[in-house]
Amino acid sequence: MISKTKENKTPIAYPTILLFISICIGYGVLYNNYVYNTKNVILTLCIGTFLAYSIFTIIHEASHGNIARGNKNFFWIEEVIGWIASAALFFPYKAFVVIHLQHHAHTNDSEQDPDGYVRGNNALEVFFRCLTLVGHYYVSSIGKANKKNVAMFKTRGSTFLFILFNIIIISLIIYFEQWNSFLIVFLLPAIIAAPILGFTFDWLPHYPHNNMDKYHNTRIVSVPGLEFLSFFQSYHLIHHLYPRVPFYNYKKRYRKIKDELILHKSPVEGFKKGEKKLFSKKNTYSDIIDGTTWNYSLEVEKVESLTHNAISIQFKNLEDVSFKYKAGQYVVISMLVNEEKVSRCYSICSNPNKGNLKVGIKRVKGGKLSNTIIDDLKKGTHVNVSGPFGEFQFKKNAIIENHVFIAGGSGITPILAIVEKILEDKINNVVLMYGCKSSKDVMFHERLKELEKQYSNQFRLLITYDILTKEYQEKMLDGLTDKSGFYLCGPKLMMEASKQALRFLEVDEKHIVIEDFATESEELKGKEFIINYRDENFKVFQSETILEGAIRNKIAIPYACNKGQCGTCKLTLEEGEIYWKEETQNVLLENEKEAGYILSCMCKPTSDLKIKE
Ligand code: FES
Repeated sequence: MISKTKENKTPIAYPTILLFISICIGYGVLYNNYVYNTKNVILTLCIGTFLAYSIFTIIHEASHGNIARGNKNFFWIEEVIGWIASAALFFPYKAFVVIHLQHHAHTNDSEQDPDGYVRGNNALEVFFRCLTLVGHYYVSSIGKANKKNVAMFKTRGSTFLFILFNIIIISLIIYFEQWNSFLIVFLLPAIIAAPILGFTFDWLPHYPHNNMDKYHNTRIVSVPGLEFLSFFQSYHLIHHLYPRVPFYNYKKRYRKIKDELILHKSPVEGFKKGEKKLFSKKNTYSDIIDGTTWNYSLEVEKVESLTHNAISIQFKNLEDVSFKYKAGQYVVISMLVNEEKVSRCYSICSNPNKGNLKVGIKRVKGGKLSNTIIDDLKKGTHVNVSGPFGEFQFKKNAIIENHVFIAGGSGITPILAIVEKILEDKINNVVLMYGCKSSKDVMFHERLKELEKQYSNQFRLLITYDILTKEYQEKMLDGLTDKSGFYLCGPKLMMEASKQALRFLEVDEKHIVIEDFATESEELKGKEFIINYRDENFKVFQSETILEGAIRNKIAIPYACNKGQCGTCKLTLEEGEIYWKEETQNVLLENEKEAGYILSCMCKPTSDLKIKE
C-alpha cells in the first residue's frame, strides 16, 4: 500500500539571493565606471557578458521555485527576482519558465523537448540556433504554433507586456541619450551571453541529444574549476535528477548518490581515474552495451512495405553500437498524434544476432499510432523508442526437439525473430503454422520463403489463407506434440483455438509460451472512487485498474504495454491509497517508488485519488 503526502516547506535560498544582489551591484559599478571613468569598451563588454552569463543562474533557480523553496511567503520575492534577472538577458520570464520545465519533462524527446531547438546538423547550424535562442522563446510564447500548448499559451499576455516594457525603456534611453552606455553595459553583453548559455547549458550537457533515460539524458563534467565557472551546472545530471535541489548543493548531492550513478553507468566525465572521456557520444550508450532497458530518440533508417497494410521500420544504430534484446521482445514507440502523446508496443522482427533494430507494424482499424506511423513516417524522422520488454522468448529445454510456432496476422512479427534465431544457431527443428486472411496479407513472405529454402532440413513452413480453427490446428499438430515446445502469437480468436487444440492434444502447459497483448478487463464491481487527474474528475470501480477506468471514461492517460512492463503509464500519486494488481513494482526504481510514482495499469484504487503526471 502506498500513500503520499505533500513535501515540507523549506526556508528561502540565501546563497542565491546573495548572488543576485552581488550581480546587481556588479551591474551598478560597471555602468557607473563606464559612464564616468574608463570608457573602455572591450573591458566593459567582457565584464558585462560575464554578469549576463551569471544572472542566468538566478533565472534558472527561480524557474524551479528554488529561491522561495516552497515557502508561500517568499513567492513574491522569487517572482520579482525572476523578472529582474530575466530583464537583464531580455528573456520573457514566464515563457522561459514553461520552456524550461517542459525541457525537464521531455529531455531529448525529438518532438517535445523545447530545448531541442539548439540541435543542428552541423556546427554552423548549431551556432545559428544558439544565436537566435532568445527569439525562439518569444516565438514559442506569442507565435501561432503555441495554441495547443496550454501552459505556453498562457504566457502570451506577460510576453506582450514585457515587449511593451522594453519598448518604453529603450525609448527613454534614446530620449535621454543614454543609448551608448545601455548598448555596451546591457544590450551587447546580453546578446553575446545568450548563445554562450544556449551552447553550454542546452546543447553541450545533452549531447548527443537522443538518450531519454533519466540516468543518461545529460552528464556530469568533473573538470577542476569548471564547477565555479558554470555555477555548478557541470553537475547537470544532478540538476535533472533533482531539479528542486539549489545549484550550490549539486556537489553535495552528487557525493551522496555517486554509487547509484556508478551502478547506472551514468556519464561522469573528466580526467580522473575511472571517469569517462569528455563529451563522448558513447558515454550515454552504456545502458545499451549492458543490454538493460533503454529509452532513445532514434532515427528511422528504412521503411519497407510488407503488405498492403503493413510495414517494417528499421532504426539507425547509434555510432555502430548494436541494440541488445532477445528474439521475441518488443519496444514501445511514442509519437505525437494531433498534439497528444501516444505510445504503443511493437514487436521486434529482427534477429538480435544481426544488430539493426527493426519492428513490424500493421494497420489497425481506428488505431491511433499504427495508422499515423504507416501513413506519415519517413526515413530520417526521429521517434521515441524504449525497450526491450517482454517475456515471449525462446526457452531452452533439453527435452524439446521441435519448436512449433503458431502465428496469426501480425503475430508473425516476434515469431519471425525467434524462428530466425533458432535456425541460425541450429538449435532445434522448427515448424511454423501461419494463418492469414489471404495471400496479400502474408507479412515477411519473402523472408519466410528464403528461410524455408536455406534451412530446408530444419524448417517446415505452413501458410494457411484462413483462420486457424481449433479443428484445423488439432489436425495439423497431431503427431507433432511429442518433445515439442509451442509458441503462440496472434488475434484473440486464433489464440483461443490454439489453447483449446493444445489442451485437446494433452500438451503440457509448461511447454507453451504465449504472447498476449490483449489484457482481459475484470467485471466492473465494488465501490466507485473519484479520481482527480489534470483537474478533471472521473470514476473508477474498485475492481478495475486506474488505466482501465480512465480508458472507459475517455481520459487520456499515456500507456503502452498494459502489463506493468514499460513504465509508460507512470503517474504520481498525490493523495489517496491504492493496491497493486500484481507484484510488478520492479519496473519502478526505488527512488521513484519513494517519490510516490505508481503504474496506472497495475494499480487499483481503495480510496478517492489525486494523481498527476
Ligand atoms: S502501460 Fe506499460 S507499465 Fe503500464
